[in-house]
Amino acid sequence: MSAPLRFSAFVMNTTSHILHGAWRLPEAQQTRFNSLDHWVELAKTLERGKFDYIFFADVVGLYDDYQGSWRKFVESGLQIPSNDPTVLASALAYNTEHLGIVLTNSILQSHPFDFARKISTLDHASNGRIGWNIVTSLSGNAWRNFGFDEITAHDERYRWADEYVDVVYKLWEGSWDDGALIQDKASGLHGDFDKVHKINHDGKRYRVEGPHLVAPSPQRTPVLFQAGSSAAGRRFAARNAEGQFIVSPNPAAAKALIDDTRRLVAENGRAPEDLQFFQGLSFVIGSTEEEAKRKAAELDEVLDPNTIIAHAAGGLGHDLGHYDLDTPIGDIETEGTRSTLAWLHEAVPDREPTVRDLARLRSHHGRIVGTPEQIADRLAVWRDAGIDGVNVTNATIPGSFTEFIDHVLPVLRDRGLARTEYAEGTARRKATGRDLLPDSHPAATYRGAFTDS
Ligand SMILES: Cc1cc2nc3c(=O)[nH]c(=O)nc-3n(C[C@H](O)[C@H](O)[C@H](O)COP(=O)(O)O)c2cc1C
Repeated sequence: MSAPLRFSAFVMNTTSHILHGAWRLPEAQQTRFNSLDHWVELAKTLERGKFDYIFFADVVGLYDDYQGSWRKFVESGLQIPSNDPTVLASALAYNTEHLGIVLTNSILQSHPFDFARKISTLDHASNGRIGWNIVTSLSGNAWRNFGFDEITAHDERYRWADEYVDVVYKLWEGSWDDGALIQDKASGLHGDFDKVHKINHDGKRYRVEGPHLVAPSPQRTPVLFQAGSSAAGRRFAARNAEGQFIVSPNPAAAKALIDDTRRLVAENGRAPEDLQFFQGLSFVIGSTEEEAKRKAAELDEVLDPNTIIAHAAGGLGHDLGHYDLDTPIGDIETEGTRSTLAWLHEAVPDREPTVRDLARLRSHHGRIVGTPEQIADRLAVWRDAGIDGVNVTNATIPGSFTEFIDHVLPVLRDRGLARTEYAEGTARRKATGRDLLPDSHPAATYRGAFTDS
Protein backbone atom coordinates (compact mmCIF):
# COMPACT_ATOMS: atom_id res chain seq x y z
CA MET A 1 0.00 0.00 0.00
CA SER A 2 1.22 3.55 -0.74
CA ALA A 3 2.30 5.77 2.11
CA PRO A 4 -0.24 8.06 3.80
CA LEU A 5 -0.31 11.64 2.52
CA ARG A 6 1.40 14.40 4.44
CA PHE A 7 -0.28 17.76 5.12
CA SER A 8 0.99 21.28 5.15
CA ALA A 9 -1.09 24.37 6.02
CA PHE A 10 -0.42 27.13 3.50
CA VAL A 11 -0.64 30.52 5.24
CA MET A 12 0.86 33.98 5.15
CA ASN A 13 1.23 36.58 7.90
CA THR A 14 -1.27 38.87 6.17
CA THR A 15 -5.02 39.15 5.50
CA SER A 16 -5.30 38.21 1.84
CA HIS A 17 -2.86 35.56 0.66
CA ILE A 18 -4.31 33.53 -2.27
CA LEU A 19 -8.12 33.45 -2.33
CA HIS A 20 -8.56 37.19 -2.43
CA GLY A 21 -11.83 38.49 -1.05
CA ALA A 22 -12.46 35.45 1.19
CA TRP A 23 -11.50 37.52 4.23
CA ARG A 24 -14.94 39.16 3.92
CA LEU A 25 -16.78 35.94 4.84
CA PRO A 26 -18.39 36.30 8.30
CA GLU A 27 -16.38 33.46 9.87
CA ALA A 28 -13.00 34.57 8.45
CA GLN A 29 -10.53 35.59 11.15
CA GLN A 30 -7.46 36.26 9.02
CA THR A 31 -7.77 39.98 9.65
CA ARG A 32 -6.38 39.10 13.12
CA PHE A 33 -2.97 38.32 11.66
CA ASN A 34 -1.25 40.96 13.84
CA SER A 35 -2.19 38.94 16.91
CA LEU A 36 0.28 36.35 18.17
CA ASP A 37 -2.65 34.51 19.80
CA HIS A 38 -4.19 34.03 16.35
CA TRP A 39 -1.11 32.13 15.14
CA VAL A 40 -0.50 30.19 18.35
CA GLU A 41 -4.13 29.03 18.32
CA LEU A 42 -3.79 27.97 14.67
CA ALA A 43 -0.54 26.09 15.32
CA LYS A 44 -2.18 24.20 18.21
CA THR A 45 -5.19 23.39 16.00
CA LEU A 46 -2.91 22.07 13.26
CA GLU A 47 -1.06 19.95 15.77
CA ARG A 48 -4.37 18.54 17.00
CA GLY A 49 -4.97 17.55 13.36
CA LYS A 50 -1.44 16.08 13.13
CA PHE A 51 -0.50 18.35 10.25
CA ASP A 52 3.16 18.01 9.27
CA TYR A 53 3.84 21.68 8.62
CA ILE A 54 2.60 25.19 8.97
CA PHE A 55 4.08 26.74 5.82
CA PHE A 56 4.43 30.50 5.81
CA ALA A 57 4.71 32.17 2.43
CA ASP A 58 6.41 35.56 2.47
CA VAL A 59 7.32 38.40 0.13
CA VAL A 60 9.54 41.43 0.61
CA GLY A 61 7.77 43.76 -1.79
CA LEU A 62 4.55 44.41 -3.67
CA TYR A 63 3.70 42.70 -6.94
CA ASP A 64 4.11 44.70 -10.14
CA ASP A 65 1.64 47.55 -10.67
CA TYR A 66 -1.96 46.79 -11.59
CA GLN A 67 -3.72 49.31 -13.84
CA GLY A 68 -0.57 51.38 -13.62
CA SER A 69 -0.57 51.68 -9.82
CA TRP A 70 -0.15 49.86 -6.51
CA ARG A 71 -3.50 51.26 -5.27
CA LYS A 72 -5.28 47.91 -5.77
CA PHE A 73 -2.97 46.11 -3.36
CA VAL A 74 -3.66 48.52 -0.52
CA GLU A 75 -7.39 48.73 -1.21
CA SER A 76 -7.90 44.97 -1.32
CA GLY A 77 -5.32 43.98 1.31
CA LEU A 78 -3.41 41.90 -1.28
CA GLN A 79 -0.43 40.90 0.89
CA ILE A 80 -0.18 44.38 2.40
CA PRO A 81 0.05 44.86 5.27
CA SER A 82 2.12 41.72 5.73
CA ASN A 83 4.34 40.81 8.67
CA ASP A 84 7.55 38.84 8.93
CA PRO A 85 6.75 35.16 9.69
CA THR A 86 10.21 34.36 11.06
CA VAL A 87 9.53 36.46 14.13
CA LEU A 88 6.54 34.22 15.00
CA ALA A 89 8.47 30.97 14.81
CA SER A 90 9.85 30.66 18.34
CA ALA A 91 6.45 31.35 19.88
CA LEU A 92 4.87 28.69 17.67
CA ALA A 93 7.63 26.24 18.52
CA TYR A 94 7.21 26.90 22.23
CA ASN A 95 3.49 26.18 22.06
CA THR A 96 3.69 22.98 20.02
CA GLU A 97 5.67 19.76 20.13
CA HIS A 98 5.51 18.16 16.70
CA LEU A 99 4.41 20.69 14.09
CA GLY A 100 7.09 21.56 11.52
CA ILE A 101 7.49 25.31 10.92
CA VAL A 102 8.43 26.17 7.34
CA LEU A 103 9.56 29.73 6.74
CA THR A 104 9.91 31.39 3.37
CA ASN A 105 13.05 33.48 3.07
CA SER A 106 14.35 35.09 -0.09
CA ILE A 107 18.00 35.13 -1.07
CA LEU A 108 17.42 38.86 -1.51
CA GLN A 109 16.35 39.78 1.97
CA SER A 110 19.09 38.72 4.31
CA HIS A 111 22.79 38.10 4.13
CA PRO A 112 23.44 34.34 4.28
CA PHE A 113 25.61 34.63 7.40
CA ASP A 114 22.82 36.36 9.32
CA PHE A 115 20.13 34.06 7.92
CA ALA A 116 22.08 30.90 8.78
CA ARG A 117 22.47 32.12 12.36
CA LYS A 118 18.76 32.91 12.80
CA ILE A 119 17.68 29.55 11.39
CA SER A 120 20.14 27.59 13.53
CA THR A 121 18.87 29.45 16.61
CA LEU A 122 15.27 28.58 15.71
CA ASP A 123 16.18 24.96 14.96
CA HIS A 124 17.63 24.71 18.49
CA ALA A 125 14.58 26.46 19.99
CA SER A 126 12.15 24.10 18.21
CA ASN A 127 14.13 20.88 18.80
CA GLY A 128 14.68 20.56 15.07
CA ARG A 129 11.37 21.53 13.51
CA ILE A 130 12.39 24.29 11.11
CA GLY A 131 12.05 24.22 7.33
CA TRP A 132 13.11 26.80 4.77
CA ASN A 133 11.23 27.58 1.54
CA ILE A 134 13.98 28.96 -0.69
CA VAL A 135 12.71 31.77 -2.93
CA THR A 136 14.36 34.31 -5.20
CA SER A 137 11.73 37.15 -5.16
CA LEU A 138 9.85 37.62 -8.41
CA SER A 139 8.73 41.26 -8.14
CA GLY A 140 10.70 44.35 -9.17
CA ASN A 141 9.49 46.22 -6.09
CA ALA A 142 11.15 43.63 -3.82
CA TRP A 143 14.47 44.12 -5.61
CA ARG A 144 14.14 47.93 -5.49
CA ASN A 145 13.46 47.67 -1.74
CA PHE A 146 16.92 46.20 -1.40
CA GLY A 147 18.74 48.80 -3.47
CA PHE A 148 18.69 47.25 -6.95
CA ASP A 149 17.52 49.17 -10.02
CA GLU A 150 15.56 46.23 -11.33
CA ILE A 151 14.85 42.56 -10.85
CA THR A 152 17.73 40.21 -11.61
CA ALA A 153 16.95 38.00 -14.62
CA HIS A 154 15.16 34.69 -13.99
CA ASP A 155 17.92 32.13 -14.49
CA GLU A 156 20.53 34.42 -12.95
CA ARG A 157 18.41 34.53 -9.75
CA TYR A 158 18.73 30.75 -9.52
CA ARG A 159 22.53 31.00 -10.03
CA TRP A 160 22.55 33.55 -7.20
CA ALA A 161 20.56 31.08 -5.11
CA ASP A 162 23.21 28.42 -5.89
CA GLU A 163 25.88 30.55 -4.21
CA TYR A 164 23.55 31.53 -1.35
CA VAL A 165 22.81 27.92 -0.42
CA ASP A 166 26.48 27.08 -0.77
CA VAL A 167 27.36 29.65 1.92
CA VAL A 168 24.70 28.48 4.36
CA TYR A 169 25.53 24.80 3.75
CA LYS A 170 29.16 25.53 4.63
CA LEU A 171 28.07 27.24 7.86
CA TRP A 172 25.49 24.63 8.85
CA GLU A 173 27.33 21.46 7.84
CA GLY A 174 31.04 22.25 7.74
CA SER A 175 31.88 24.85 10.35
CA TRP A 176 31.38 22.71 13.44
CA ASP A 177 32.34 19.06 13.77
CA ASP A 178 30.26 16.81 16.00
CA GLY A 179 31.41 16.94 19.61
CA ALA A 180 32.94 20.44 19.37
CA LEU A 181 30.83 21.82 22.18
CA ILE A 182 32.21 20.42 25.44
CA GLN A 183 30.96 22.65 28.31
CA ASP A 184 32.98 20.78 30.93
CA LYS A 185 32.75 22.68 34.22
CA ALA A 186 35.46 20.58 35.86
CA SER A 187 38.18 21.40 33.32
CA GLY A 188 36.76 24.75 32.24
CA LEU A 189 36.96 23.73 28.57
CA HIS A 190 33.89 25.03 26.77
CA GLY A 191 34.65 24.23 23.13
CA ASP A 192 37.16 22.14 21.19
CA PHE A 193 39.09 24.58 18.99
CA ASP A 194 40.21 21.81 16.62
CA LYS A 195 36.60 21.00 15.81
CA VAL A 196 35.38 24.52 14.93
CA HIS A 197 36.33 25.90 11.51
CA LYS A 198 36.25 29.07 9.49
CA ILE A 199 34.68 28.50 6.07
CA ASN A 200 36.53 31.25 4.13
CA HIS A 201 33.89 31.46 1.41
CA ASP A 202 34.99 33.77 -1.41
CA GLY A 203 32.46 33.80 -4.25
CA LYS A 204 30.91 36.05 -6.88
CA ARG A 205 28.49 37.72 -4.47
CA TYR A 206 29.52 36.78 -0.95
CA ARG A 207 32.67 36.68 1.12
CA VAL A 208 32.13 34.97 4.47
CA GLU A 209 34.97 34.05 6.77
CA GLY A 210 33.13 32.20 9.54
CA PRO A 211 33.05 30.32 11.79
CA HIS A 212 29.30 29.85 12.16
CA LEU A 213 28.42 31.37 15.52
CA VAL A 214 25.84 28.73 16.40
CA ALA A 215 26.78 25.19 17.42
CA PRO A 216 25.06 22.46 15.38
CA SER A 217 21.28 22.37 15.82
CA PRO A 218 19.30 19.11 15.77
CA GLN A 219 18.91 19.11 11.98
CA ARG A 220 21.95 21.30 11.17
CA THR A 221 20.40 22.27 7.81
CA PRO A 222 16.64 22.97 8.05
CA VAL A 223 14.32 20.87 5.87
CA LEU A 224 14.69 22.45 2.43
CA PHE A 225 11.70 23.37 0.26
CA GLN A 226 11.32 25.05 -3.08
CA ALA A 227 8.35 26.20 -5.17
CA GLY A 228 8.71 26.99 -8.84
CA SER A 229 8.58 24.68 -11.80
CA SER A 230 10.54 26.38 -14.60
CA ALA A 231 13.49 24.45 -16.03
CA ALA A 232 15.90 26.43 -13.83
CA GLY A 233 13.59 26.06 -10.83
CA ARG A 234 13.34 22.31 -11.22
CA ARG A 235 17.08 21.96 -11.67
CA PHE A 236 17.56 23.89 -8.44
CA ALA A 237 14.96 21.75 -6.63
CA ALA A 238 16.46 18.53 -7.97
CA ARG A 239 19.84 19.46 -6.54
CA ASN A 240 18.77 21.01 -3.24
CA ALA A 241 15.16 20.56 -2.17
CA GLU A 242 13.66 17.88 0.04
CA GLY A 243 10.13 19.15 -0.59
CA GLN A 244 8.65 20.92 -3.58
CA PHE A 245 5.37 22.85 -3.50
CA ILE A 246 3.62 22.30 -6.81
CA VAL A 247 0.37 23.62 -8.29
CA SER A 248 -0.39 21.18 -11.08
CA PRO A 249 -3.76 21.61 -12.85
CA ASN A 250 -4.66 17.89 -12.57
CA PRO A 251 -3.22 14.57 -11.35
CA ALA A 252 -1.91 13.58 -14.81
CA ALA A 253 0.06 16.82 -15.12
CA ALA A 254 1.37 16.35 -11.57
CA LYS A 255 2.53 12.84 -12.46
CA ALA A 256 4.43 14.08 -15.52
CA LEU A 257 6.06 16.88 -13.49
CA ILE A 258 6.96 14.58 -10.59
CA ASP A 259 8.37 11.83 -12.83
CA ASP A 260 10.50 14.32 -14.73
CA THR A 261 11.75 16.13 -11.62
CA ARG A 262 12.56 12.81 -9.91
CA ARG A 263 14.63 11.88 -12.98
CA LEU A 264 16.60 15.12 -12.43
CA VAL A 265 16.99 14.28 -8.72
CA ALA A 266 18.56 10.94 -9.69
CA GLU A 267 20.84 12.71 -12.20
CA ASN A 268 22.11 14.72 -9.24
CA GLY A 269 23.15 11.51 -7.51
CA ARG A 270 20.28 11.64 -5.03
CA ALA A 271 17.62 9.02 -4.35
CA PRO A 272 14.47 9.99 -6.34
CA GLU A 273 12.30 9.76 -3.20
CA ASP A 274 14.54 12.26 -1.39
CA LEU A 275 12.38 14.98 -2.99
CA GLN A 276 8.75 14.95 -1.83
CA PHE A 277 5.97 16.77 -3.69
CA PHE A 278 3.20 18.79 -2.03
CA GLN A 279 0.31 19.71 -4.31
CA GLY A 280 -1.60 22.91 -3.48
CA LEU A 281 -5.32 22.16 -3.04
CA SER A 282 -8.25 23.90 -1.35
CA PHE A 283 -11.38 22.24 -0.04
CA VAL A 284 -15.03 23.23 0.23
CA ILE A 285 -16.58 20.65 2.53
CA GLY A 286 -20.28 19.84 3.03
CA SER A 287 -22.20 17.11 4.80
CA THR A 288 -24.01 16.66 1.47
CA GLU A 289 -22.87 17.46 -2.06
CA GLU A 290 -25.57 20.15 -2.25
CA GLU A 291 -24.33 21.84 0.90
CA ALA A 292 -20.75 21.82 -0.42
CA LYS A 293 -21.89 23.35 -3.72
CA ARG A 294 -23.85 26.03 -1.88
CA LYS A 295 -20.77 26.89 0.20
CA ALA A 296 -18.64 27.04 -2.96
CA ALA A 297 -21.14 29.46 -4.51
CA GLU A 298 -21.02 31.61 -1.36
CA LEU A 299 -17.24 31.68 -1.58
CA ASP A 300 -17.38 32.67 -5.26
CA GLU A 301 -19.67 35.57 -4.31
CA VAL A 302 -16.92 37.19 -2.23
CA LEU A 303 -13.87 36.27 -4.33
CA ASP A 304 -12.59 39.29 -6.23
CA PRO A 305 -11.42 38.47 -9.81
CA ASN A 306 -9.58 41.77 -10.24
CA THR A 307 -7.47 41.22 -7.13
CA ILE A 308 -6.85 37.63 -8.17
CA ILE A 309 -5.60 38.89 -11.57
CA ALA A 310 -3.50 41.60 -9.92
CA HIS A 311 -1.78 38.88 -7.88
CA ALA A 312 -1.35 36.49 -10.81
CA ALA A 313 -0.05 39.21 -13.13
CA GLY A 314 2.34 40.42 -10.47
CA GLY A 315 4.60 37.49 -11.17
CA LEU A 316 4.27 37.73 -14.94
CA GLY A 317 5.90 41.10 -15.48
CA HIS A 318 2.82 42.29 -17.44
CA ASP A 319 0.16 44.67 -16.14
CA LEU A 320 -2.91 42.64 -17.05
CA GLY A 321 -5.08 45.34 -15.47
CA HIS A 322 -4.94 47.23 -18.76
CA TYR A 323 -6.56 44.42 -20.74
CA ASP A 324 -10.15 43.46 -21.26
CA LEU A 325 -10.93 40.18 -19.48
CA ASP A 326 -11.31 38.39 -22.84
CA THR A 327 -7.89 39.31 -24.18
CA PRO A 328 -5.74 36.26 -25.03
CA ILE A 329 -2.69 36.16 -22.83
CA GLY A 330 -0.45 34.95 -25.65
CA ASP A 331 2.89 33.35 -25.33
CA ILE A 332 4.53 35.88 -23.04
CA GLU A 333 8.23 35.42 -22.36
CA THR A 334 8.71 36.86 -18.90
CA GLU A 335 11.30 37.12 -16.19
CA GLY A 336 8.63 36.26 -13.63
CA THR A 337 6.58 33.13 -13.25
CA ARG A 338 7.30 30.99 -16.27
CA SER A 339 5.54 28.11 -14.60
CA THR A 340 2.28 30.09 -14.40
CA LEU A 341 2.21 30.40 -18.18
CA ALA A 342 3.00 26.76 -18.73
CA TRP A 343 0.29 25.92 -16.22
CA LEU A 344 -2.27 28.09 -18.01
CA HIS A 345 -1.54 26.43 -21.36
CA GLU A 346 -1.85 23.01 -19.76
CA ALA A 347 -5.15 23.87 -18.10
CA VAL A 348 -6.66 25.35 -21.29
CA PRO A 349 -5.14 23.05 -23.89
CA ASP A 350 -7.61 23.56 -26.75
CA ARG A 351 -7.37 27.35 -27.26
CA GLU A 352 -5.42 30.45 -26.33
CA PRO A 353 -6.09 31.24 -22.64
CA THR A 354 -7.50 34.68 -21.78
CA VAL A 355 -7.17 37.03 -18.81
CA ARG A 356 -10.56 35.80 -17.58
CA ASP A 357 -9.32 32.18 -17.70
CA LEU A 358 -6.47 33.21 -15.48
CA ALA A 359 -8.81 34.65 -12.82
CA ARG A 360 -11.19 31.70 -12.98
CA LEU A 361 -8.44 29.11 -12.89
CA ARG A 362 -6.54 30.83 -10.12
CA SER A 363 -9.56 30.78 -7.83
CA HIS A 364 -10.98 27.38 -8.87
CA HIS A 365 -7.89 25.41 -9.72
CA GLY A 366 -7.00 22.93 -7.05
CA ARG A 367 -10.40 23.39 -5.43
CA ILE A 368 -12.15 20.19 -4.41
CA VAL A 369 -15.83 20.58 -3.53
CA GLY A 370 -17.79 17.77 -1.91
CA THR A 371 -18.49 15.57 1.06
CA PRO A 372 -15.57 14.20 3.07
CA GLU A 373 -15.98 10.87 1.25
CA GLN A 374 -15.93 12.53 -2.17
CA ILE A 375 -12.85 14.53 -1.17
CA ALA A 376 -11.14 11.34 -0.01
CA ASP A 377 -11.91 9.72 -3.40
CA ARG A 378 -10.21 12.63 -5.19
CA LEU A 379 -7.22 12.65 -2.85
CA ALA A 380 -6.71 8.95 -3.55
CA VAL A 381 -6.40 9.81 -7.26
CA TRP A 382 -3.87 12.55 -6.49
CA ARG A 383 -1.87 10.19 -4.32
CA ASP A 384 -1.85 7.56 -7.06
CA ALA A 385 -0.42 10.25 -9.37
CA GLY A 386 2.61 10.34 -7.06
CA ILE A 387 2.16 13.32 -4.74
CA ASP A 388 3.56 12.84 -1.23
CA GLY A 389 1.49 15.50 0.42
CA VAL A 390 -1.08 18.26 0.16
CA ASN A 391 -0.44 21.95 0.74
CA VAL A 392 -3.86 22.99 2.06
CA THR A 393 -4.75 26.45 0.76
CA ASN A 394 -7.21 28.30 2.97
CA ALA A 395 -10.23 30.44 2.22
CA THR A 396 -10.68 31.25 5.89
CA ILE A 397 -8.49 30.95 8.95
CA PRO A 398 -9.07 28.93 11.03
CA GLY A 399 -12.25 27.57 9.37
CA SER A 400 -10.66 25.94 6.32
CA PHE A 401 -8.29 24.02 8.60
CA THR A 402 -10.72 23.10 11.39
CA GLU A 403 -13.26 21.75 8.87
CA PHE A 404 -10.57 19.71 7.14
CA ILE A 405 -9.27 18.36 10.46
CA ASP A 406 -12.69 17.56 11.93
CA HIS A 407 -14.45 16.17 8.85
CA VAL A 408 -12.01 15.07 6.16
CA LEU A 409 -8.98 13.75 8.04
CA PRO A 410 -10.99 11.07 9.95
CA VAL A 411 -12.20 9.66 6.62
CA LEU A 412 -8.69 9.83 5.18
CA ARG A 413 -7.34 7.98 8.23
CA ASP A 414 -9.97 5.24 7.86
CA ARG A 415 -8.78 4.73 4.30
CA GLY A 416 -5.06 4.79 5.08
CA LEU A 417 -4.66 8.11 3.26
CA ALA A 418 -3.51 10.01 6.37
CA ARG A 419 -1.35 9.13 9.37
CA THR A 420 -2.99 8.45 12.74
CA GLU A 421 -0.03 9.59 14.89
CA TYR A 422 3.06 11.74 14.64
CA ALA A 423 6.41 10.00 14.39
CA GLU A 424 8.89 11.10 17.07
CA GLY A 425 11.80 13.45 16.52
CA THR A 426 12.81 16.30 14.26
CA ALA A 427 10.87 17.45 11.21
CA ARG A 428 13.36 15.65 8.94
CA ARG A 429 13.19 12.46 11.02
CA LYS A 430 9.39 12.49 10.81
CA ALA A 431 9.62 12.81 7.02
CA THR A 432 12.61 10.60 6.22
CA GLY A 433 13.76 8.77 9.36
CA ARG A 434 16.99 10.85 9.54
CA ASP A 435 17.82 14.01 11.51
CA LEU A 436 20.49 15.11 9.04
CA LEU A 437 20.67 15.44 5.28
CA PRO A 438 21.83 12.21 3.58
CA ASP A 439 25.41 11.96 2.30
CA SER A 440 24.16 12.28 -1.29
CA HIS A 441 22.98 15.87 -0.70
CA PRO A 442 25.39 18.62 -1.89
CA ALA A 443 25.45 20.18 1.60
CA ALA A 444 26.98 16.98 2.97
CA THR A 445 30.16 17.53 0.93
CA TYR A 446 31.10 20.27 3.42
CA ARG A 447 31.18 17.90 6.39
CA GLY A 448 34.78 17.68 7.46
CA ALA A 449 35.85 19.91 4.54
CA PHE A 450 37.33 22.76 6.63
CA THR A 451 40.22 21.68 8.75
CA ASP A 452 42.41 24.74 9.38
CA SER A 453 41.03 26.36 12.51
C1 LIG B 1 3.00 27.07 -3.93
C2 LIG B 1 3.94 28.21 -4.18
C3 LIG B 1 4.32 29.02 -3.12
C4 LIG B 1 5.18 30.09 -3.32
N1 LIG B 1 5.50 30.89 -2.28
C5 LIG B 1 6.29 31.96 -2.48
C6 LIG B 1 6.59 32.85 -1.43
O1 LIG B 1 6.14 32.68 -0.30
N2 LIG B 1 7.39 33.92 -1.68
C7 LIG B 1 7.92 34.15 -2.92
O2 LIG B 1 8.65 35.14 -3.06
N3 LIG B 1 7.66 33.32 -3.94
C8 LIG B 1 6.86 32.25 -3.75
N4 LIG B 1 6.57 31.42 -4.79
C9 LIG B 1 7.19 31.68 -6.09
C10 LIG B 1 8.32 30.72 -6.36
O3 LIG B 1 9.31 30.78 -5.36
C11 LIG B 1 8.96 31.02 -7.71
O4 LIG B 1 9.61 32.25 -7.70
C12 LIG B 1 7.94 31.06 -8.80
O5 LIG B 1 7.11 29.93 -8.74
C13 LIG B 1 8.61 31.16 -10.14
O6 LIG B 1 9.57 30.16 -10.29
P1 LIG B 1 9.80 29.43 -11.65
O7 LIG B 1 10.01 30.50 -12.66
O8 LIG B 1 11.00 28.56 -11.42
O9 LIG B 1 8.58 28.63 -11.94
C14 LIG B 1 5.70 30.35 -4.61
C15 LIG B 1 5.32 29.51 -5.67
C16 LIG B 1 4.46 28.46 -5.48
C17 LIG B 1 4.10 27.60 -6.65
